[in-house]
Amino acid sequence: MPKGRPSSIWVCRACGAQSPKWLGRCAECSAWATLEEEAVPARGTGPAAARPAGPGPVALDKVSALESPRTPTGIAELDRVLGGGLVPGAAILVGGDPGIGKSTLLLQAAGAVARSGKTVLYVTGEESPAQVKMRAERLGVRESSLHVLAETALGSVLHHAGEMRPALCVVDSVQTLHSDDQPGAPGTVSQVRECGAQLTALAKARGIPVVLIGHVTKEGTLAGPRTLEHLVDVVLSFEGDRFQALRLLRATKNRFGATEELGVFEMAADGLREVPNPSALSCGDGSSPRAPGAVAVATVQGSRPLLVEVQALASAAAYPTAPVRRTAGADPNRVHLVLAALSEHADMSCAGKDVFVNVAGGFAVEEPAADLGIAVAVASSLRKRRVPADWVAVGEVGLGGEVRPVPHLEARLKEAARLGLKRALVPAGAAAARDGHGLAVQPVRSLAEALGALA
Ligand code: TYD
Ligand code: MG
Repeated sequence: MPKGRPSSIWVCRACGAQSPKWLGRCAECSAWATLEEEAVPARGTGPAAARPAGPGPVALDKVSALESPRTPTGIAELDRVLGGGLVPGAAILVGGDPGIGKSTLLLQAAGAVARSGKTVLYVTGEESPAQVKMRAERLGVRESSLHVLAETALGSVLHHAGEMRPALCVVDSVQTLHSDDQPGAPGTVSQVRECGAQLTALAKARGIPVVLIGHVTKEGTLAGPRTLEHLVDVVLSFEGDRFQALRLLRATKNRFGATEELGVFEMAADGLREVPNPSALSCGDGSSPRAPGAVAVATVQGSRPLLVEVQALASAAAYPTAPVRRTAGADPNRVHLVLAALSEHADMSCAGKDVFVNVAGGFAVEEPAADLGIAVAVASSLRKRRVPADWVAVGEVGLGGEVRPVPHLEARLKEAARLGLKRALVPAGAAAARDGHGLAVQPVRSLAEALGALA
């Protein structure tokens, strides 16, 4: 091979890392067989070669603050996750598994914005305008200020969006676009990156909120859009089980609002419906008895308190020397810690038992504040004794078996009271623990005390 500039590089489809040679396994993210060959563009043609054309450095006190009149999309659950609505010039990436409902969500949002009389541009690279029309009919979207552009050439999309200056531009999906300035087929890392960068630049230059839809799979096999995450202002991920109706929209990055904010939807025959009371979905109202091993747990997702039912099952292990620990919706590391603390400090050993922990309703709870609930659920399963349905448990469990304070206790207790629950196990010492906010509180210092209160 001649010395000097190589003519091609290898780019990881999963994480975007580059390598000068082919590797079976990406050195950056350790994924197997994800490296793809891409031609290196000739020097001097890339965006980096352009002379700086910006205004240069500005003193901070001369910079005008972002007076951003946010445009609500009209879908409250989406607005909540965005931090109050669309900010002019925001670049928003919406990722999720194929078929989860991204096109449906954004077409509904486009329709809602258009309903207020604003111009909206919906760029479709995957479906024909007729297909979009059919979907729109099902969703009850028929606004004439909503325009559909069936196009995959980036230049043309930039041209039309720049001319039209819509109040919202949706690109469905970023993987279908291609730029003539870059080598490679649509969907390759370099194409996705180039198209994402150009559309983000358009958003900033024209003050248009641009939503980029990207297919992302859990395995990261189609993860081109992951490489856009650092570029855009907001990253939303749309999750859910395709076999269930529940869909969760989560902000994993938001330059204009809080992250981990959660929007909850349900997929119905006429599109996505907002779920205004998701706590009731997982946890019920505490009026009907829970099964042994189940307890209500008050969590916080972003700024939203959410009650869920945590379920545990401890059963005789099929292989007692290698018992299984499986979780769905709970953090396996926290579960292991809680099992160890139960065994050491509360005389509740799961040795020789397979343990399964599940969060009902398809929700995911990663925060340590769910520890006490997990411990109570496991103990309830071991004892084969029900926890009263109107009890809620909140608290982090430490390695010493102590129950530690958690943030936002007041909001958690208020949400539990709103749902109709009556009593709460809470960490001792917290200010909110003295006023139960509508619940009878039982402050506990340790796991042993908590299990004693329930015995
Ligand atoms: P879609 O928005 O096409 O998913 P994505 O853009 O993320 O690939 O939605 C896919 C699924 O949603 C499809 O299997 C059918 C279902 N669906 C409904 O159940 N109701 C509806 O009103 C619509 C439009 C779709
Ligand atoms: Mg789609």
